[in-house]
Amino acid sequence: MPGEVQVLIPDREASSRLASDRIEILSVELLDQNRIIIEDLKHLATTLGLEFGWHYLLDLCWILSLLDLRDGLRVMDAGAGTGILQWYLAKRGAQVISVDRLSREALPLRFRRRFRVRGLRAEADLLPSGRAFLRNFRRPVHGSWARKWAVRVVAQAKDLWGWLRSPSGDGGVLIYNQDLAHLVDIAGDSLDAVVSVSALEHNTPEGLKVVVRELMRVLKPGGVLLATLTARVDQDWWHEASSGWCYTDHSLRQLFDLSPDAPSNYERYDELFAALKNCAELREGLASFYFSSDEKGMPGGVWDPQYQPVGVYKIKHG
Ligand SMILES: C[S@@+](CC[C@H](N)C(=O)[O-])C[C@H]1O[C@@H](n2cnc3c(N)ncnc32)[C@H](O)[C@@H]1O
Repeated sequence: MPGEVQVLIPDREASSRLASDRIEILSVELLDQNRIIIEDLKHLATTLGLEFGWHYLLDLCWILSLLDLRDGLRVMDAGAGTGILQWYLAKRGAQVISVDRLSREALPLRFRRRFRVRGLRAEADLLPSGRAFLRNFRRPVHGSWARKWAVRVVAQAKDLWGWLRSPSGDGGVLIYNQDLAHLVDIAGDSLDAVVSVSALEHNTPEGLKVVVRELMRVLKPGGVLLATLTARVDQDWWHEASSGWCYTDHSLRQLFDLSPDAPSNYERYDELFAALKNCAELREGLASFYFSSDEKGMPGGVWDPQYQPVGVYKIKHG
């Protein structure tokens, strides 16, 4: 198909895999270190009609620069929503289990053929394409009768156009609409990696402990958990606008059961935060949804970061 995205080789090779657990506040330097990944992600996002959360390019670069991504990699995207990471991984040949407690049973058609999407529990997780198409056509739209029809027809026509694209890469995505605390359909010791972009902070501290235990259960020995969450320096903080917890270094160690020796860069919190607030590239790239909502972490589209993204890297030992 015209406009098909080239699969590009990441800037930092997988040899950068870490030998031990660590906590890393995500520096804006990741942007310059991962230009090729960023271009590839942006191109893919455009073709899928997706936009990035305000710090997601950092989260995605951190995960993708550390993940040993290869054909056939069995990886879970934990709290995936319809986010870009699962599509990127499938395009690069991974077999992705996409888990979210919000149902994606009516997943738009443009994702389905292109990334070989199936439901883990057949129709319980993914409605047949025709039913999904009709349901999405009928979804609520505000405004006059004429506007409702125009919005629906344009959206569904774009979706059908996306559906015509040939499958990308050899990977696939298995949709599993389930809480991460109860992955009852996934065998223990079965996955090479678990990745998670800005999802786990939407659990209470008690709930997160259960989720982490479950994610570690499904990993194979030697497998890695690469999760990004949100950080605050002095005490845990509930950020109302994004409905998420921002965690201290101390809390992350406890919640992820990390050793006190695991390296962390929280001592650079203030310096990294100043650089983030001054990052013109992220500020100028704010997604359109921030300008139409006060409930999405950057109310009204006013650039005013209240926390930093942080990555937790945890290896499952045998
Ligand atoms: C901010 S969204 C990020 C979605 C996606 N990772 C992305 O990159 O766009 C957080 C997602 O995590 C999901 N989530 C959080 N905690 C979860 C849990 N315990 N079980 C399943 N899904 C969870 C939410 O339902 C939501 O869809």
